[in-house]
Amino acid sequence: MIKIEAIVREDKFEDVKEALNKIEVNGITVYQVMGCGKQKGHIELVRGTEVDITMLPKIKFEIVVSSEEWEEKTIKAIQEAAYTGSPGDGKIFCYDMRSVMRIRTKETGTAAIN
Ligand SMILES: Nc1ncnc2c1ncn2[C@@H]1O[C@H](COP(=O)(O)OP(=O)(O)OP(=O)(O)O)[C@@H](O)[C@H]1O
Ligand SMILES: [Mg+2]
Repeated sequence: MIKIEAIVREDKFEDVKEALNKIEVNGITVYQVMGCGKQKGHIELVRGTEVDITMLPKIKFEIVVSSEEWEEKTIKAIQEAAYTGSPGDGKIFCYDMRSVMRIRTKETGTAAIN
């Protein structure tokens, strides 16, 4: 099981949600977050000039999938839907997920995801 976290532009929320829906990824958690990447929230940094770090609003998706095959499909869907080509498009982080339980049925592991 793999946990995928994707930080995307606010205005890409609908596109990413639809892309995930299309490949039939069902379990999704979404957060409104603030963050910065290597531009520290600014599109341009003047070299040598001290600039405060500015946090920009972003959307974070969390998705747990059952296999590497689903991981690949999910990453591809997010990358394509969230892409503009300009700085600030976001990042996708993946982690090994140790355990999952569906509370209603007490199912664990991949049975709790599918
Ligand atoms: N190393 C990181 N650790 C945690 N969160 C990050 C990291 N890099 C980016 N983020 C999150 O992703 C958001 C978007 O980052 P962003 O796309 O600007 O990354 P970047 O590395 O600066 O790439 P780009 O050059 O395309 O802008 C940030 O606002 C932050 O929330
Ligand atoms: Mg950036």
